[in-house]
Amino acid sequence: MRVLVVGSGGREHALAWKIARSPRVERVLAVPGSAAMEREAACFAGVGTDDAAALVALAAREAVDLVVVGPEGPLAAGVADRLRDAGLAVFGPGRAAAQLEASKSFAKEFMSRHRIPTAAHASFADLDAAKAHVRALDGPCVVKADGLAAGKGVAVCETPEAALRALEETMAARRFGAAGERVVVEERLEGEEASFYAITDGERVVTLAAAQDHKRALDGDRGENTGGMGAYAPAPVVGPAVEARILSEIVQPTLRGLAADGLPYRGVLFIGLMIDRSGVPRVIEYNVRFGDPETQALVRQMHADLVPLLDGAARGALDPSIDARAGDPAVCVVLASGGYPRAFETGKAIDGIDDAERDPEVVVFHAGTKRAPTGGFSTAGGRVLGVTARGASFAVARERAYAACARIRFEGLHLRRDIGARALARP
Ligand code: AMP
Ligand code: GLY
Repeated sequence: MRVLVVGSGGREHALAWKIARSPRVERVLAVPGSAAMEREAACFAGVGTDDAAALVALAAREAVDLVVVGPEGPLAAGVADRLRDAGLAVFGPGRAAAQLEASKSFAKEFMSRHRIPTAAHASFADLDAAKAHVRALDGPCVVKADGLAAGKGVAVCETPEAALRALEETMAARRFGAAGERVVVEERLEGEEASFYAITDGERVVTLAAAQDHKRALDGDRGENTGGMGAYAPAPVVGPAVEARILSEIVQPTLRGLAADGLPYRGVLFIGLMIDRSGVPRVIEYNVRFGDPETQALVRQMHADLVPLLDGAARGALDPSIDARAGDPAVCVVLASGGYPRAFETGKAIDGIDDAERDPEVVVFHAGTKRAPTGGFSTAGGRVLGVTARGASFAVARERAYAACARIRFEGLHLRRDIGARALARP
């Protein structure tokens, strides 16, 4: 098979890496891909991820059998619809279902309509009305830009004053651009988060090992929300009882709701969950694509071949008997540019990637790098690398990942030291 991956970040590098290891795959292509992805894929840097016509032409020319769309942007723009209209097998939902991620108010209305447990919420297009609501709540709450903001448009606020500031930043100063024209103000949920992945063809479903992301910039879950500073899988917070509840109270009702609302879905449904002390799961958000950096950890963790899952979902013929959960514990530590998620500098030379990968259990996925004039790599983004290791136990995977991180250097490098600490702390 020939598989085309759309995207260029750490998640797409991880997908291309895993897809390239499938015995079914003869060739991997990527649009636009990245210098680092050239190890796994033929990269077509000149093609835009939103340019459906160019993607269709490329797929025809290169006899592509399957297109896997990595990021949410092209899905929300309807790229998957256009590729399917052209007769291609595509992993990723169409524009209509992608609203589950692209509009938080759409997602909240979907959950209310289908009685899917989530935080109480109200949605506003008017700053003064939103402020009045926050004052009336008079306690902790969460302020979210309605549209896509690369995981950064959310402020978890202890006090009404902090929420008022977040409203000003989002709606008046437009820190997240047009994504902040509307906001959702939510009840703050308490508990532990998990990322849950259900691959589906709209009817059948295969779930992956639960993962956990680390969204805040600093150790101990302090600092601002980021796109994700590290991840691990499987996440022990999702034990068998919790998982049974996730399936019956969230995954199945979501799939029934999609069908009832006439929203076809062939791809991965990524459910961001909050699990409270008594094991009750609630939805924080839906995403319509794989998580970043959870995917980096999951592809290292998973023993199964990913391609039959992607291809089965894309063709509407997913084999629900595939065991996609079996694997070894894996940890991904993100090396970020100093200052991220706010302003940061790029173009810093990176040393030590080869050295880090000398351990065969370690893979360094590239999130934001480019080829340096000297032949190595230099930084080109906020999240730069995802140093990913597996081991016979969490402790071993984590030790390996951090030993590999210690070999990598660039000016301003920032990482969290506590990725996977929660899993270690559990009995
Ligand atoms: P989202 O982009 O909606 O996933 O939100 C980003 C992060 O903000 C989540 O991963 C949580 O850490 C936090 N968050 C979002 N909504 C809530 C909520 N209702 N209660 C508590 N934390 C939340
Ligand atoms: N790691 C969270 C996300 O991909 O949205």
